[in-house]
Amino acid sequence: MRLQGKKIILGITGSIAAYKAAFLLRLLVKEGAEVQVVITPAGKEFITPVTLSALSGRPVISEFFGSSDGSWHSHVDLGLWADAMLVTPATASSLGKMANGIADNILITTYLSAKCPVFIAPAMDLDMFTHPSTQKNISVLKEYGNILLDPAVGELASGLEGKGRMEEPENILEKLVEFFSQKKNC
Ligand SMILES: Cc1cc2nc3c(=O)[nH]c(=O)nc-3n(C[C@H](O)[C@H](O)[C@H](O)COP(=O)(O)O)c2cc1C
Repeated sequence: MRLQGKKIILGITGSIAAYKAAFLLRLLVKEGAEVQVVITPAGKEFITPVTLSALSGRPVISEFFGSSDGSWHSHVDLGLWADAMLVTPATASSLGKMANGIADNILITTYLSAKCPVFIAPAMDLDMFTHPSTQKNISVLKEYGNILLDPAVGELASGLEGKGRMEEPENILEKLVEFFSQKKNC
């Protein structure tokens, strides 16, 4: 249980690689982490909150407002709660929003509120990944101190081959464990 007592926000965006986040979630929980899933509205088109809630043992957060009773989710409290935030997979769109502070969903507001280290695993087609706009956003996010998990080269969901595959869940877990073992946690 190498992540016992660690509080992790698992941010999921609208990429075909969102299914990999379920594997990552399972690995995090098996290592003893408490995981709060935050998913974008587009992310829910790719993986259901029911799966994520069952695996994490917590309701999934996706919207600012709970229901019609006036309740709401506090991204500020979430940002303060976490020992680490993972944005896996991170779409081109979410990278752009994170780099530019476009806070139009609760994943981005949580990111902007987070006081802890943030790990980001981009996932997209190779041409989207190599586009200067994406590359600029990635370098801005690195400059801001985020930890970028470089995508792998290989077969992509589009059928093309190239760089853009989300880093494998096992490797993300090892990077997180290594990070905490170096006592760099917030
Ligand atoms: C089938 C399908 C797969 C997609 N996969 C990706 C992807 O891997 N990476 C990406 O950046 N966008 C992908 N998109 C586009 C995003 O879903 C879209 O840009 C969305 O607005 C992202 O929103 P979000 O970042 O707020 O989750 C995909 C769209 C479709 C229809």
